[in-house]
Amino acid sequence: MRRPMVAGNWKMNMTLAGTRELIRGLAAKLSSNAPIDVTVFPPFVYLFAASQAAQDTPIRIGGQNLWPETKGAFTGEVSAEMLREAGCRYVLVGHSERRHTIGGADREGRTVGEDDALLNRKLKAARAAGLTPVLCVGETLAERDAAQTQAVLTSQLEGGLRGQSSAHVAMMLIAYEPVWAIGTGRTATVEQADEAHRHIRAEIARMFDARTAELVRILYGGSVKASNSKELMTPPGVDGVLVGGASLAVDEFLGIISGCFSAKGLG
Ligand code: PGA
Repeated sequence: MRRPMVAGNWKMNMTLAGTRELIRGLAAKLSSNAPIDVTVFPPFVYLFAASQAAQDTPIRIGGQNLWPETKGAFTGEVSAEMLREAGCRYVLVGHSERRHTIGGADREGRTVGEDDALLNRKLKAARAAGLTPVLCVGETLAERDAAQTQAVLTSQLEGGLRGQSSAHVAMMLIAYEPVWAIGTGRTATVEQADEAHRHIRAEIARMFDARTAELVRILYGGSVKASNSKELMTPPGVDGVLVGGASLAVDEFLGIISGCFSAKGLG
């Protein structure tokens, strides 16, 4: 059985004191042999403090981004090895804000963010440093309205995963995050999430093999909160959630974790 994960993407939020408080608050309520993975992704500058606070707790730490080179003249960037040294086990790759919100603009004023070729290199760099990547994929509202959802997911998976080994894909996570559901309060229906997750798993089976598709964990993300988390994790193909806004408050995040326990029949 795939081990569920509840992950909190803090984005550009929190303070140093808040980082320690939140992790201690979560740890106080989590048993050390919890049958799920709980991971938080703080901003880079809080990673050391987060790793220290999470020591001897079941909470794992991840970075929100990385640069694919090992070192050099890349002002403002952080390598996979640096994340490892800061205590990270995981790293987000290709979050929709990196794909669509952050970056320069083209002549028409559209954001030119990270593309699949860059994300492909980031996945390889994460593996080389022993980090477990969480590859984020998802369609925009215009793409969904144009019935392009499956095509977009397929092309993001093909571009990101080209040349990766099946062993690497089997141990990584994929987060399905419809762009229109992120930070909007609009959540995908369980049917929409289930359908997208099935498509992703089928594509992994086609691109790699059935065993890889069976092992890879696929998370849902987009306006997950305590009140909808159980329902969203009910389909067997939804292996957990990647949570933004609702991961910043201890009680709300604990509510999502308990939603995961009930959805997966873990007591
Ligand atoms: P949200 O963000 O939960 O605030 O919608 C999810 C994400 O961006 O990972």
